[in-house]
This record gives sequence, structure tokens and C-alpha cells, in this order.
Amino acid sequence: DWNAGNVIAEQVARIRAQIGTGKVICGLSGGVDSAVAAALVHEAVGDQLTCVFVDHGLLRQDERRQVEEDYVKATGVRLITIDAEKQFLDALAGVSDPEQKRKIIGREFIRTFEAAQKQLIEEAANEGDPVRFLVQGTLYPDVVESGGGSGTANIKSHHNVGGLPDDLDFELVEPLRALFKDEVREIGRQLGLPEVIVGRQPFPGPGLGIRIVGEVTKDRLELLRQADAIARAELTLAGLDNEIWQCPVVLLADVRSVGVQGDGRTYGHPIVLRPVSSEDAMTADWTRLPYDVLAKISNRITNEVKDVNRVVLDVTSKPPGTIEWE
Ligand code: XMP
Repeated sequence: DWNAGNVIAEQVARIRAQIGTGKVICGLSGGVDSAVAAALVHEAVGDQLTCVFVDHGLLRQDERRQVEEDYVKATGVRLITIDAEKQFLDALAGVSDPEQKRKIIGREFIRTFEAAQKQLIEEAANEGDPVRFLVQGTLYPDVVESGGGSGTANIKSHHNVGGLPDDLDFELVEPLRALFKDEVREIGRQLGLPEVIVGRQPFPGPGLGIRIVGEVTKDRLELLRQADAIARAELTLAGLDNEIWQCPVVLLADVRSVGVQGDGRTYGHPIVLRPVSSEDAMTADWTRLPYDVLAKISNRITNEVKDVNRVVLDVTSKPPGTIEWE
């Protein structure tokens, strides 16, 4: 029988054996996986761990504050934040292809961690041990879907598996590599993380960058961030957070359609709502959200978000659709 306590004991022992007295960094994305992976490593090696939060400009509204305040308060981990918005947006300029975006984001993540590593080494100049280890919250489905499992085609390069550069300067610590999301949540609870963190819906590491179909720009990110915040607020208000696995909100940046608002013609972009129900993200069904909730979200987004004049609902299961559009 699966038992969170046993998995924790086993992983803590393994992590200690792998890391020894070395130093380790962990990138926090604001999502469940990296939060639990970091908490496990913290349990195993305490202050040998430093968490790094990369603000790459592809985050959702309020995400940075949640990591910097809520997570740190709950765990007591040492955290540094790196402002990397310009670096990521420059690297993504002119790129529309989904796999290319994923690889660029994965590469910039690692470059940023390497910069953090240098910074930490300089800070701890006389403390000896270099930072050699990097924790990642890779789950079993990430491994399978990036083609790491036996006999599986590459569907998407998850940023933390397929996007790693060949000249990686870290040894990876991946304590969740054999686990599914519900198991990870259970471990997080067992480790004392608050429900706001372990109950959080999945959000991909490449963030809003893979929820803009088309080129990623600062203006488009701002539109999408507003639409996403509205959808999330209304779903929470309607008490639907536990009914849905996650609800990606997608901006079709290269599509325009004609609309009418007030007395005038508009020519704006559509926003896609993608609510899904799932056990483990390997398969999913579209969630039958109440019409009045959909209506409220649609009205608010078209009224409040500039240049968005249409909201559409994705009614595709996985397969054949994936959960994210890219
Ligand atoms: P797909 O789109 O493949 O998504 O059906 C399955 C689940 O994985 C999440 N996802 C990611 N998570 N890095 C992550 O940490 C990624 O690159 C990534 N791509 C997709 C997605 O949100 C869904 O929960």
C-alpha cells in the first residue's frame, strides 16, 4: 500500500546520501511540485538548501508575493528572488513555435540558476562547499510525456525535462520523479505545508509563455494575466476550485475577430477557457462548468480586458487535446 510517511522517510534518506554536506538550490515556480520538492529537501538537509524564485515575467497575478511571503512563512526556507523578466522576454522575442518557446524558457531557467549559483558562491566565499545540486519538482507524468518513459513519443518538452542544456553544470535532485500529483499533495500535507499551497491547481513551469498562441510580448502577457485573474477569482467565488483540476486561460494572440462594443466596431482577440477534470493529467475531460459562471467570466473579461472581445470554451478531452494549448 502507498504511504506518504514511508515515501518521505525513503526520499529523505536518499537525498541525504546524494547531497552529503553539499549545498543545493531549488527553483520555486509557485506551483505545488517545486514547493513540495523543496520542502522534502529542506526536511533532509535543512539550511544547506537555498530556494531561488525566478520572476521571468510569465507569472500570474500575485504569484510572486505568494512565494515571497506565504511560502517562506510556512517553511522558513532561505529564498532569493531573481528579476529576469527582460532576459526571458528578449530570448522569446519573435518566437511563436511552442517547442521552441519551451526550450528557450528551459534554457533561460538553467542560465538563471547558474547565475544564482555564482552569486551564492561569492556570498559564501569562505564557507567552502560549492553549490553543486539543483532540485527539480519533476513528476512521473512529466518524465513520460517528455519521452523519458519507455516507448513513449515526445509529446511536449516539459521545461524541466526536455529543456535542459547539454552543458548542464548541476547534478539534479528529483525526489518526485516516481510520483503522481495526488501523491505529491499528500506528501506536502504530511510535511506540514498549508492547504493554500498543496491544494493549488497545477501551473506549468513555462507559465503564461505557453498560454499565448503566437509571440510572447509584455503587452500580451498583461492582457492574459488580467483575464486569468478574473477567471480564477470567479471560479473560486463559485466554489468550484475542487471540481476542476485546473483551468488554463489562453490568449489567441494571432487571431482577431470582429465585435461590437458600445457604438463601435472592435477587432480584438479571443480568450479561451480550458477547464479540465483529471486524476493525474495523463488523461482529462473538459469540466461542465455552470453556464452562469461561464457567463460571468465572459462578461467580466470582455468588459475589463482591453483588446479582448470574445471568450470561447474548449470542449475537448485529453486525448486528443492536451491540457495546455502548447
Ligand atoms: P499537457 O498540456 O501535456 O499538460 O496535457 C499536462 C499537465 O502538465 C502541466 N504542464 C507542465 N508542467 N512544466 C510543468 O511543470 C511544463 O513544461 C508543463 N507543460 C504542461 C499542465 O499544466 C498539465 O497540468
